[in-house]
Amino acid sequence: ESTAGARAESATDASAAPRPAAGTVLRFPAGFRWGTATAAYQIEGGATEDGRTPSIWDTFSRTPGKVRNGDTGDIAADHLHRMPEDVRLMKELGVTDYRFSVSWPRVQPTGRGPAVERGLDFYRRLVDELLGAGIRPVATLYHWDLPQELEDAGGWPERDTAHRFAEYAGLVAGALGDRVSTWTTLNEPWCGAFLGYGNGVHAPGRTSDLAALRAAHHFNLAHGGATRVLRDRLPSTAEISLTLNLHALRPLTDTDADRDAVRRIDAVANRIFLDPVFHGRLPEDLVADTAGVTDWSFVKAGDLEVTSTPIDSLGINYYSPSVVSAGSSESPSPWAGAEEHVAFTPAEGPRTAMDWPVDADGLYELLTRLRDELPGLPLLVTENGAAYDDYADPEGQVHDPERVAYLDAHLGAVHRAIEDGVDVRGYFLWSLLDNFEWAYGYSKRFGIVHVDFASQRRTPKDSARWYAEVIARGGVAV
Ligand code: NOJ
Repeated sequence: ESTAGARAESATDASAAPRPAAGTVLRFPAGFRWGTATAAYQIEGGATEDGRTPSIWDTFSRTPGKVRNGDTGDIAADHLHRMPEDVRLMKELGVTDYRFSVSWPRVQPTGRGPAVERGLDFYRRLVDELLGAGIRPVATLYHWDLPQELEDAGGWPERDTAHRFAEYAGLVAGALGDRVSTWTTLNEPWCGAFLGYGNGVHAPGRTSDLAALRAAHHFNLAHGGATRVLRDRLPSTAEISLTLNLHALRPLTDTDADRDAVRRIDAVANRIFLDPVFHGRLPEDLVADTAGVTDWSFVKAGDLEVTSTPIDSLGINYYSPSVVSAGSSESPSPWAGAEEHVAFTPAEGPRTAMDWPVDADGLYELLTRLRDELPGLPLLVTENGAAYDDYADPEGQVHDPERVAYLDAHLGAVHRAIEDGVDVRGYFLWSLLDNFEWAYGYSKRFGIVHVDFASQRRTPKDSARWYAEVIARGGVAV
């Protein structure tokens, strides 16, 4: 037990803290939430069970060439049938919290009308199982599986989808609201809007700059509308949150041109959500930069009051930073002019199997930025983790020292942020299980528990044992 630890617990006056000596523990504040995270389409399987109908990811993954190896979420990690075993695994890890998502097409197949009780029953059982294991459920209402019927009606670029989402949120709150205390409306709307409708690498695979911007606005509207419904239906103690994959951006050089490129990406990747949700405004520079290219009339009077309905915490998903520079004039403009003449430059140093640079400072930078820009708002790291090419050795063991090093460095960054006065309440490791990694299918393994997809056998990796020790001692050993 170190003095650095005691200092972290009070989370004050850390600026003068010396680097901790070897053999000490970077202890996290009492009550810190130690979690793991998953998402419905990535683990559940049971794609046609209990009345579930296709989501945009069912359709997209069946479209040739969209997902590596033609993989789909039809079976995934078969969590729908193995849920009690998976909760037991978490109990053994000692996690305090579990972040899962509710599959909209399982609960309300067409995206309209009454809920399907059999669909809700799965989540009722999951929540019972979690509470029985002493694990707090953290429910995300949207982790990218829009009912296909709503996409056929126009999807997120259409305003009605936001209203449909708020209605669906009410159905889930009605079923689970008495036992789920933490709710996240949306997961990573940037991906849903810009990868789904802008560059088309995610479902539904559309490529329209305007559709992406419209989708981003309707995600904000859906978030605000759902927040109002949840506030209305949930006990006053409920925590309502939103998870963003905020981008830690760095200019390639200190030139004005590169710093301006960072500003433009910050507007279209970060502030396009932060400003409407926390300040009730659009990023003015984005609107100015896109004048003449984009007609923002899809933002109606009163919308920004809805989008800025107060919430209780913000979730941040972080994996790696981006280095941005003013590109050549030949670079196309993927997002309605806002990204014009901008280039991404690979960062130096080690990479994960996703080819993402390992750089924990980016997480620290994001957390301290939010401390300064959104004072008083509790933060959760709702995802952080890494993919590596894991395999079971002849003894059936999975050794993943690179993942342990990645996680250790990022928890160190979270600890440093807490010492520097950032109100981080929890950390959710992505992911509990190897799963369907979207356009990469099953080729990328993020789990701390290995899944042999042929047999569905689960094998905790070394990183799972490491995480259990971190949780047990309440911090990382230096
Ligand atoms: C963010 C997403 O929320 C999650 O679904 C995905 O698997 C991880 N990042 C890793 O890419």
